[in-house]
Amino acid sequence: MFEKRPKLFKNRDVLTPLFVPDTLQDRKDEVEVISQYLGYILDGATPPDLLIVGPTGSGKTVTTRYVLNELEKHTDSMIKYVTAEGTAYQVATTIADTPRRGFGFMDVIDKIREKVEDKKAIFVLDEVDKVLAKDGDRLLYHLSREPNICIVALSNKLTVMDMIDDPRVLSSFKPRKINFPPYNAPQLVEILEYRAEKAFNPGVLKEGVIQLCAALAAQRNGDARYALDLLSFATDIAIRNKQNKVTEDDVRYAQDEVEVEFIRRSITELRENQKLLLYAVLTSKEKTPTKIYNIYNSLARQYGINSLTQRRLSQLLRELELYGLVEIEVVGRGRGKGVKWLVTPSSTIDDDVMLEAIRRSL
Ligand SMILES: Nc1ncnc2c1ncn2[C@@H]1O[C@H](COP(=O)(O)OP(=O)(O)OP(=O)(O)O)[C@@H](O)[C@H]1O
Ligand SMILES: [Mg+2]
Repeated sequence: MFEKRPKLFKNRDVLTPLFVPDTLQDRKDEVEVISQYLGYILDGATPPDLLIVGPTGSGKTVTTRYVLNELEKHTDSMIKYVTAEGTAYQVATTIADTPRRGFGFMDVIDKIREKVEDKKAIFVLDEVDKVLAKDGDRLLYHLSREPNICIVALSNKLTVMDMIDDPRVLSSFKPRKINFPPYNAPQLVEILEYRAEKAFNPGVLKEGVIQLCAALAAQRNGDARYALDLLSFATDIAIRNKQNKVTEDDVRYAQDEVEVEFIRRSITELRENQKLLLYAVLTSKEKTPTKIYNIYNSLARQYGINSLTQRRLSQLLRELELYGLVEIEVVGRGRGKGVKWLVTPSSTIDDDVMLEAIRRSL
């Protein structure tokens, strides 16, 4: 049964999230800034702390890993990359390489200090918002006070610094901020073309396939992961149908699958109050901010979440807009009438898919 399999993929692994390509497309400036800062370790100095923020799929992880790989060729200083999921204690044990039993939090911090000693170290905390949503403050508190440790924090939450409550952390952790803008369609085309050459046998992708994947991903906030997923799912579909080429139709079919996955992922990643806010946007009949705030506040009471000021809610709404989940438009800027805003769910995402995803994750 495996003999007549169509051979469309040369190497499917190249399209998976774990693959780190040997060159990056369109992130030259970012690579330069990050390597300039981290490069100070080569002169025996502690690099400044960094905070790398940008939307999902904008290449934060891959770019940082790429720079780390290069840096490691020139130094044996301690460079450690961790996904900061879980509690401060769990993340600390991952950094320290200690077992998760028999040590208290401060023991683990001491272990980290011992390991670093008087050498210099870079610790990358990817998805730092995850640990900050728990008790990450105390991890940052101790690490940022160590003169020999450089912290590189990555997050797709633009307001991640607001997640730090402890003023002592804010006074010792003052990272340089590096923004990763979302990719546009031509940039996504470049990323896909480079990857496709390694992933597919020649002539497998019909004309227009890459452009379509890029255009659809550009609508999803320029998420490169979404674009790569589209391409590999579309190929799976083509193979299932015993085709020897991938067509634009396959991409459109793949979109349904990738879409649901994408929406679930973006919604699970939201903070509780943003989930409720999005829910309020979806269920409010009149889409004015005031109505939405009212619905939000009554939902918040129901879920035991603090109600928020109008100003804070506007910030959260703008974030939802950045994630591509809602659209904010100005209407009726009539003479003397002032500005009126309308907040509507994204016109390119199915409302029911969003509602379902929120219900699941609340
Ligand atoms: N400039 C690029 N060149 C080549 N591949 C890229 C580039 N940017 C992103 N990719 C690829 O796109 C996918 C998503 O990128 P990455 O995981 O770095 O995103 P991210 O910004 O860390 O997203 P998240 O916030 O969801 O963690 C990966 O498979 C990555 O290899
Ligand atoms: Mg990432």
